[in-house]
Amino acid sequence: MTFKPPALLHATDRSEKVTVNYELLARQLDVLLADETDLLANSANLVGLLFAEIPRLNWLGIYVLRGSELVLGPFQGKPACVRIPLGQGVCGRAAQRMESLLVADVNEFSGHISCDPASVSELVVPLISAGRVIGVLDVDSPHKRRFSIDDQRGLELVCACFVRLLERQRDDLQNFI
Ligand code: SME
Repeated sequence: MTFKPPALLHATDRSEKVTVNYELLARQLDVLLADETDLLANSANLVGLLFAEIPRLNWLGIYVLRGSELVLGPFQGKPACVRIPLGQGVCGRAAQRMESLLVADVNEFSGHISCDPASVSELVVPLISAGRVIGVLDVDSPHKRRFSIDDQRGLELVCACFVRLLERQRDDLQNFI
């Protein structure tokens, strides 16, 4: 059987401006994940869609909360550190605080964990289900100040949509992949 991806209207403005239509991305995600119940496949496709459609990135992926550690899940980019304790690095801190962390320059973030030396700015959005963190989405760019508050709000929207889609497949999303 040939996989036929849903027709994608590009969510990215292909001009010089870095604007991403996150609402459109959330709708595309809905279509992409609608008929599939495998949470690993759906997580991999979330990552593939976002990495393809958001420009000026060098790494994008999911870390899943297992106990008191974040463990590497599906990603695009260079191999990365596998385990991040809660409270450590940008990812561990965003997960612990249950709020997004936008870092304009990782060199100025005390405790930043460097995986790909090319990463200069970073945005981490926690994945929250039933009031608990189940993981984070981590996005890295080789450009300083790559991410704006619009990117943060937009990715929060996409992550909320992703979690809602997974909740249709399974009630308890702890260790969902
Ligand atoms: N920089 C992250 C670690 C993960 S990688 O960037 C892929 C952090 O400080 O938590």
